[in-house]
Amino acid sequence: MHRHDVLILGSGLAGMTLALQLADTHRVAIITKRSLTDGASQWAQGGIAAVLDQTDSVADHVSDTLVAGAGLCDEAATRFILERARSAIDWLIELGVPFTPDAEHETGFHLTREGGHSHRRIIHAADATGAAVIDTLAARVRAHPNIAIFEEHIAVDLIVGHKLGLGDTGCLGAYVLDKHRDRVETFTASHTVLATGGAGKVYLYTTNPDTATGDGIAMGWRAGCRVANMEFVQFHPTSLYHPHAKSFLITEAVRGEGGLLKLPDGTRFMPQHDERGELAPRDIVARAIDFEMKRHGVDCVYLDISHQPAEFIREHFPTVHQRCLELGIDITRQPIPVVPAAHYTCGGLITDLNGRTDIPGLYAIGETACTGLHGANRLASNSLLEAMVLGREAALAIKASAVPVQPQPPAWDESRVTDADEEVVISHNWDELRRFMWDYVGIVRTDKRLERAAHRINLLRSEIDEFYANFRVSNDLIELRNLVDTADLIVRSAQGRKESRGLHFSRDYPTQHASTQDTILAGRQDR
Ligand code: FUM
Repeated sequence: MHRHDVLILGSGLAGMTLALQLADTHRVAIITKRSLTDGASQWAQGGIAAVLDQTDSVADHVSDTLVAGAGLCDEAATRFILERARSAIDWLIELGVPFTPDAEHETGFHLTREGGHSHRRIIHAADATGAAVIDTLAARVRAHPNIAIFEEHIAVDLIVGHKLGLGDTGCLGAYVLDKHRDRVETFTASHTVLATGGAGKVYLYTTNPDTATGDGIAMGWRAGCRVANMEFVQFHPTSLYHPHAKSFLITEAVRGEGGLLKLPDGTRFMPQHDERGELAPRDIVARAIDFEMKRHGVDCVYLDISHQPAEFIREHFPTVHQRCLELGIDITRQPIPVVPAAHYTCGGLITDLNGRTDIPGLYAIGETACTGLHGANRLASNSLLEAMVLGREAALAIKASAVPVQPQPPAWDESRVTDADEEVVISHNWDELRRFMWDYVGIVRTDKRLERAAHRINLLRSEIDEFYANFRVSNDLIELRNLVDTADLIVRSAQGRKESRGLHFSRDYPTQHASTQDTILAGRQDR
């Protein structure tokens, strides 16, 4: 039994920001599936959107975000988060994050541009912004005596009073598998925070790391929280297409700095799809690539920045340059083969602007949450920003709240389970899920495809539930169970939207309704 003031599940930017904001006054535990720095934040290349230039304004940033969000952003939430960008960036600068300098700019930092932004407003550390931020924060987290880090631990489920017959006592903590000891332990806390990121691994092709299995969304939903807008899965237009490259992103900043999308014969195609060309919002660029690939029967398209000086390319995109070079592609001379891949989960657990979910004592921040900022399509580089702002706001709420009186939950009960006889069931189901989600619930959807996916999800769910009831939990089983629940939320949300909007495109309903609302699914009540 472990007891802390605050239990944070996940160690990305949202979780670490929150931990650092609380650690001087609270005893904090961070649970993380691999090492402290593994996760999607660490992989972020592009940067963080913030109004830092005198010619820019928060009003313009809000307006760009609302345009990308295609009518579903919550305008008040959007303004709230974007107004806090400057102070969040100042905090990172104070901590020593090595953002790319620009002596000629008034801030002293280089600002790049990405799709959908009307100004240069992306502060970045070359093309490895996530790594620069996470490494800086991780050093502070590791050094703080009030933060206990539990690496190689994965949460199985939240402990929620009403599900255990303990009355309306809210969230009491989580059952957590210690992967080294192969044992489920009980972690209790006055405040439990889901900061586990998104669910890119529900798809066969993704820019996300293996850890992105929708854990927080699935656990929160099973505990009874509402989820919103899960149909809006963002496909990044440009992930590297190469047999030896898994999940490698080619940052949108390459297009921001002049990169052009071309067919194999060298013809540029984006101007025929949108007047903003390569810098149209991501949903438009990803759909255009998908359309051109199908039209010409080609496996990929090409992103070409070779017209820029080689020195400029090496300086701004060292990570992309190096990785491509390892695979035999010199981006200073050759175009980069790219395809779209699942990148960001715009929907998630519904929260207020302090990260509070529907369950007392339970918070969700970062990609796990749906605050209303992203609407039907996230604007590039708004996500690291949201993770920080909500981490800081959740800390304020936690500091201001009274310490609840909580009952002692029962320990994890393993008396009725045995060791799994066939691990192959898990690996087979995992592969099947990711493949049919890609084929049936990808960039272009139809009713028939969604129906097929729903049918398969029901079959998988009954197999996994049976497995879960009878066998000891393992990392893979926990992740697969979460992926299936997340896939189910995506498919049901997509089935409910009888129009095409933002990231959700249906051939059966190709137009956009004049007015719309969020897709909200109730939390699971039956277990
Ligand atoms: O293209 C990128 O570097 C990704 C940015 C983002 O997802 O915000």
